Amino acid sequence: MFEKNLLAGRAILITGGGTGLGRSMALRFAELGAKLHLAGRREAPLQETCEAIRAAGGAGSYSCCDVRDFAAVERMVEEAEQATGGVDTLVNNAAGNFIARTEKISPNAFNAVVGIVLNGTFHATLALGRKWIAAGRGGNVLSIVTTYASSGAGSGYVVPSACAKAGVLALTRSLAVEWARYHIRLNAIAPGPFPTEGAWSRLMPSADYEERAKNHHPMKRFGRHEELTNLAAYLLAPLAEYVNGECVVIDGGLWLRGAGEFNNLSELPDEVWRQMEEARKK
Ligand code: COA
Repeated sequence: MFEKNLLAGRAILITGGGTGLGRSMALRFAELGAKLHLAGRREAPLQETCEAIRAAGGAGSYSCCDVRDFAAVERMVEEAEQATGGVDTLVNNAAGNFIARTEKISPNAFNAVVGIVLNGTFHATLALGRKWIAAGRGGNVLSIVTTYASSGAGSGYVVPSACAKAGVLALTRSLAVEWARYHIRLNAIAPGPFPTEGAWSRLMPSADYEERAKNHHPMKRFGRHEELTNLAAYLLAPLAEYVNGECVVIDGGLWLRGAGEFNNLSELPDEVWRQMEEARKK
């Protein structure tokens, strides 16, 4: 679908780039010709992902960084600029989340998630945005949110994340307009369930729940990483130049299933449908 060199000449910084969807995006963007710089808290996964990028013939570097700390983000951005020769694209992918009954969590727990998701996104966007504006070179920002942010519904049991992701969406839409004059585009992707070690270990209470979640899905399956990485590649590529301030949902129709009043009728057995149809004819 994409030309092999679609992202050639690009330098992409991905926060949380060592694991999960961040890692998958890094590998896919490198395959399409971009140089990658990955940021994350733990060195081992960053190193491993960079090695995988290089083994496939790409260019990858990394910095250890906690995105909650603005000074650390500024240092990380400096390192990324040095390593790549100039970052033109930021993917705000680093996230923190856990399921809990909200009355049981502490203010510190709320701050931990909001600090990573919302402040971290703001920190990286600000640090790079300032550079792009000062140099007059334009840029691209893609932030990973969630369907409970894009739908406006929020979600119980992940309240810090729901608040933070809603903020990231507001930041995306606000800056898409404010920074358009600097040729900086900001978009978001709202993924539904894509299996990753990080998300699954925190958000899937049990194997039984996972099976029920799959059965509840309109397509009866979770997302495949390549489905998301290809959407991200499109949004970052020059062919999407006029897409700005948008949030694209990729969830196989899951959030709509919850929104439509009669969608649960998909669970009705064929036999019951037949009986109702027969009764209507009488
Ligand atoms: N339920 C309730 N509170 C929780 C919790 C849970 N499952 N996990 C952590 N917390 C609380 C801690 O108790 C602590 O609060 P306290 O100091 O009042 O006790 C606070 O959150 C911070 O936890 P800590 O582990 O010290 O912070 P951290 O910065 O190391 O971790 C998290 C941040 C909690 C977001 C952690 O889950 C994380 O690092 N996640 C990153 C990866 C991730 O979440 N990926 C999934 C993306 S979908």
